[in-house]
Amino acid sequence: MDTDDYPQLKTSVPGPRSLSLARDLKASECRGITFTSPEFPVFWESARDAMVWDADGNRFLDLTAGFGVASLGHGHPAVLAALKEQSSRLLHAMGDVHPAAVKVELARLLAEVTPGDLGRAVFGSSGSEAVETALKTAVLATGRPHLLAFEGAYHGLTYGALAATHRADFRQPFEKQIGLSVRHLPFPNPYRPPGGVDAASCGRFCLDRVGEALRADPQVGAILVEPIQGRGGEIVPPDDFLPGLRGLADQHGVLLIADEVYTGFCRSGRWFAVEHWGVVPDLLCLGKAMSNGFPISACVGRPQVMDAWPESTGEAIHTSTFLGHPAGCAMAVSAIREMMRLGLDRMADAKGRFLMERLKPLLERHACVGEIRGRGLLIGIELVRDRARREPDPQAAWRVVAAALRRGLILLSGGPGRNVLSLTPPITITERQLEFAARTLDECLALIGSSKAAGAEAPR
Ligand SMILES: Cc1ncc(COP(=O)(O)O)c(C=O)c1O
Repeated sequence: MDTDDYPQLKTSVPGPRSLSLARDLKASECRGITFTSPEFPVFWESARDAMVWDADGNRFLDLTAGFGVASLGHGHPAVLAALKEQSSRLLHAMGDVHPAAVKVELARLLAEVTPGDLGRAVFGSSGSEAVETALKTAVLATGRPHLLAFEGAYHGLTYGALAATHRADFRQPFEKQIGLSVRHLPFPNPYRPPGGVDAASCGRFCLDRVGEALRADPQVGAILVEPIQGRGGEIVPPDDFLPGLRGLADQHGVLLIADEVYTGFCRSGRWFAVEHWGVVPDLLCLGKAMSNGFPISACVGRPQVMDAWPESTGEAIHTSTFLGHPAGCAMAVSAIREMMRLGLDRMADAKGRFLMERLKPLLERHACVGEIRGRGLLIGIELVRDRARREPDPQAAWRVVAAALRRGLILLSGGPGRNVLSLTPPITITERQLEFAARTLDECLALIGSSKAAGAEAPR
């Protein structure tokens, strides 16, 4: 591999410098944060487009877009230029008091690109903060403090968001401090339909549970949903689910909050994943790809919902030091304009189909591949111990992640069972790179010893 757009490894992976940095980090960062093992991680030094260079000079292909952030590719020139221009003039302002002028431009642009009449923004610094803002808005707008969320959901780890996040390992140590009342209901996962129903009826089954929960608890003010579950394992619900949720929210006078921190800004092949189903939520949570690399987020709502906030008379009841950060706003304006110019939604759709075509043969070739699914460039490969029982195989997923890294591919595993290989590359990744990625994943799956004829069971 000697062309510029493929990985090139100069040392073993992780190389000596990464291993030494890992040792140093262990001595100075809380041990609960960065996972280090002899196989993991590599320390990043620089990145451009879909390529990442580590501290040892190894070059990797990034199939994560750095947690779904760098949708336009790492170091996108227009976004970097916006950062340089803005930061050399004004690096910090007073977000809710004397704001940066560029905050106005970003708020206007968000109103333009988001669906329906969504068009009043509250900025923040992380996806979790956007979720927190949505939860506060819901209680202001409805007066009802309880929330419905879904099994498998990931909404972030600050306390309000954590209350809505489902995974037990994130919640359990802090359960006693989680104050918000959230009921988690089954999410319609067609591969693992809840309630013993089949894939075709799981949307209806889950909607019925939502209807029951709304009738049982008049204190519910909002339904919080990821239109496609991201960290929950790239789960695309059946077509009746999102429209059904919209209908139930309207019927019961509760808000529908779409958490598109992961799916937003073209990742799923639409600007926002709700557009696959023609649904307009009351509140939309955004982050990650919005600026292609600066910690900035937003909760965008319908005017009549956002007007539940009392008008600021000098001291906002919800703000933060870095709200509407000038560099973040300038980068986001530039990134969104670039997404429009490139037609990034169509690009994600086309490249997602291209990658899917190349991945589908893995189902035939490797018995451990249970399902390959997704929309756009949000793709999950679910690994199972055996296809009939669909028992998650997190070890296999980890071994593929580690083997892929040694071949120059950066990818993550996710899902509640940690058995789903998650592919969310920069949307600007080339077709040759996608082909390389599919080939390498094929090799890694073969290497972990699960490559055998898929047996009598027909691939799904
Ligand atoms: C759907 C969703 N919501 C919220 C968050 C939290 O965002 P952050 O990590 O920026 O707080 C994430 C992060 O992965 C996410 O995927």
